[in-house]
Amino acid sequence: MNIGIDKMGFYSPHLYVDMNELAISRDVDPGKFTVGIGQEKMAVAPLTQDPVSLAANAALEILDETDQEKIDLVIVGTESGVDHSKSIATYIHPLLGLNPQARAFEIKQACYGATAGLQMAKGHIALHPDSKVLVIGTDIARYGLRSSGEVTQGAGAVAMLISREPRVLRLEEHHAYHTEDIMDFWRPTYAENAFVDGKFSNEQYISFFNRVWEQYKAASHLKLAEYEAICFHMPYTKMGLKALRTILEETDEANRDRLLANYEVSKTFNKNIGNIYTASLYLSLLSLLENQEGLPAGARIGMYSYGSGAVGEFFSGILQPDYQKQLHIQRHADLFASRKEISVTEYEEIFQQMLPADGSKADLAINEDPADIVLAGIEHHVRQYVNKKQ
Ligand code: COA
Repeated sequence: MNIGIDKMGFYSPHLYVDMNELAISRDVDPGKFTVGIGQEKMAVAPLTQDPVSLAANAALEILDETDQEKIDLVIVGTESGVDHSKSIATYIHPLLGLNPQARAFEIKQACYGATAGLQMAKGHIALHPDSKVLVIGTDIARYGLRSSGEVTQGAGAVAMLISREPRVLRLEEHHAYHTEDIMDFWRPTYAENAFVDGKFSNEQYISFFNRVWEQYKAASHLKLAEYEAICFHMPYTKMGLKALRTILEETDEANRDRLLANYEVSKTFNKNIGNIYTASLYLSLLSLLENQEGLPAGARIGMYSYGSGAVGEFFSGILQPDYQKQLHIQRHADLFASRKEISVTEYEEIFQQMLPADGSKADLAINEDPADIVLAGIEHHVRQYVNKKQ
């Protein structure tokens, strides 16, 4: 049975900081952030956008009435969940008008969570061919003001509808994955911001890639030349390139040029959003599909997922005929074009704003947020969401 991605949605908040401005304010040469790290703009989430609303907004743009009825499994991958117990999947369920006869839960394994969800969804569809699964990666990456990871923050979500006979990307049968208990990046339950051993995380990202790439080659007998493009988890856009370069010698110059050119396109959205952890790999896929004209149906796209702690996985998919019809190219172009730049000072203020944690009431300025679904406030420790369209 053919199983894979049938629809893809994306959402990111309407505010951003320019990386040149951030570099100047941090007394760093802007070239380090824009060339060395490879980031141009960083999405900033106001209090009215949290991982729940981001996820719901990303899913809202792709679901029709049939999907709402047929989805019987909702999986949210995140590492910035808003509750130790209640899942984001249950929060978004009513906001999206989904059929109550569904399973809903959240998955955590750093940036790998959405990939775990995608592979679970594939298994679910294999057992229940008529159902559909909603898989979402949603995150707000926080390393802290003036930290070395600050330039790699971001906010956003990617939603994917998984079904049989998918119209975007059919997932191929082979897999390669690897797990090791390492401390390259983590966030203890008492910490608002992540802890990271940056250099170690870079090394492990590449080391895991090399392992799963070799495993995948052995399992699939596919050569690098047979890939149109490889999409990478992008904590920052230079990272995937470093990994890609380690295998380029496996093919000739024409293939190398194609892979490098497609890599450039696959980072278009990511360099303007920043790291969105679980959704970064899928944002990179969306970026490739929506910004590269002329990708042929039948083309093979490799996918490398890495979640610190750590789990790495390589898998691949085949582009489906007329996949463009399933995309929202103009809508996403409008989303980027309508964003508002804020100063570094404004970003710092937003970064430090928190919801009350003592049960008191807060009403947020939802009219200042153009999103359809917003966090309107909190009362008695209960978050209040509004879908302006309902
Ligand atoms: N112009 C162009 N490039 C410049 C530059 C300039 N003026 N100044 C520095 N650079 C380059 C460096 O040469 C380096 O390139 P390289 O990695 O190709 O060698 C790059 O910019 C980054 O510089 P570096 O000194 O290594 O940055 P850093 O010590 O501030 O840390 C990270 C970078 C990525 C480790 C840090 O941002 C971080 O911890 N991020 C979060 C963790 C993460 O994303 N991990 C990825 C795996 S999950």
